[in-house]
Amino acid sequence: MNFFACILAVAVASQFTAGSIIQGHSEKQPLQEILQFDSGLNPIAPTQSDSSLLTTCNGVLNSTSGGIAYKAFEPIAANERCVWTIRGGNAGEFSLNVLNIGSLGSQDTQVIVTCLRHRSTTTHINVNQTGSVNGVSSCNLLVITLASGSDVSDSTGFVLEYSVLRAGSLSSRSQDYIVNAGNAAIISYPDLPLSYTNSELSTFVILPAQGSTTNLIYVRDSLEGTTCYDLLAVYRFNASSTLQTKWEYEGRLCGNVLSDIVTNNDLLLITFESDHSVVGTGFQLALAASTSNQCTS
Ligand SMILES: *[C@@H]1O[C@H](CO)[C@@H](O)[C@H](O)[C@H]1NC(C)=O
Ligand SMILES: *[C@@H]1O[C@H](CO)[C@@H](O)[C@H](O)[C@H]1NC(C)=O
Ligand SMILES: *[C@@H]1O[C@H](CO)[C@@H](O)[C@H](O)[C@H]1NC(C)=O
Repeated sequence: MNFFACILAVAVASQFTAGSIIQGHSEKQPLQEILQFDSGLNPIAPTQSDSSLLTTCNGVLNSTSGGIAYKAFEPIAANERCVWTIRGGNAGEFSLNVLNIGSLGSQDTQVIVTCLRHRSTTTHINVNQTGSVNGVSSCNLLVITLASGSDVSDSTGFVLEYSVLRAGSLSSRSQDYIVNAGNAAIISYPDLPLSYTNSELSTFVILPAQGSTTNLIYVRDSLEGTTCYDLLAVYRFNASSTLQTKWEYEGRLCGNVLSDIVTNNDLLLITFESDHSVVGTGFQLALAASTSNQCTS
């Protein structure tokens, strides 16, 4: 583990063990100082999208029609986590069709479709049958999550196809990131030294490192003033949630929050959206996984 990750983990462990305090909004100057220090953290670029059919775990799809075929005819492993983000070019309406799904027999395995809408509500849909998925008509983006538990019996994966029925009006500078928390790293958003644009809807998926806690440090550069016109929303995946769809809404980060920390032992999904006017220079997300013995060697 590198120096930064160790410092960060110690800072997190000693001061912020209560987990996210999105509700509390107290300023956390030490975190900002840590990030401004030349830490040598790896900068992370947006996830490339160069295919319309994905067959591997995790990925981004940006063509107007395409699909995902993941382990359709082979067993899935215990405790798998895979996330695919479907942007579909610039979508305002989708159709989504499940051609095959082999996890129906296992209570422990879920395929969840998250519908993201610019400036409107996020919904999660538990996919448990083949055929057309209801509830995705007005989505700008779809995030597909596959999560298996310890008992996968003979579950297999799935095949689904999508197409964009109507174009949306999001900024073409919107981006999608899928990042592994196991590598201490930093996302500067936007990724160029500029302001973000109006009407963005961007996603940041953080994959958990096995057996570790993900620590995600948010430090604002600037959003639209101190308001919530441009904001981040935080979702934590909780495999033992009583919610059938497992994604729990944690809260939002608006322009009045200088820094915050989100921790989880499972997937995290962060969205960023900007409204139709006034931009800022964005924010940074720094990642480090922590285990109890990380700084001993
Ligand atoms: C996705 O496709 C749209 C339409 O072709 C394009 O404007 C946008 O820049 C693409 N986004 C990414 C992240 O490649
Ligand atoms: C299947 O999914 C639907 C929609 O999310 C949900 O209402 C229903 O309870 C689920 N059925 C089972 C058996 O899990
Ligand atoms: C996950 O959900 C369960 C059931 O609602 C709850 O008891 C537990 O505290 C949650 N875990 C986390 C990390 O939020």
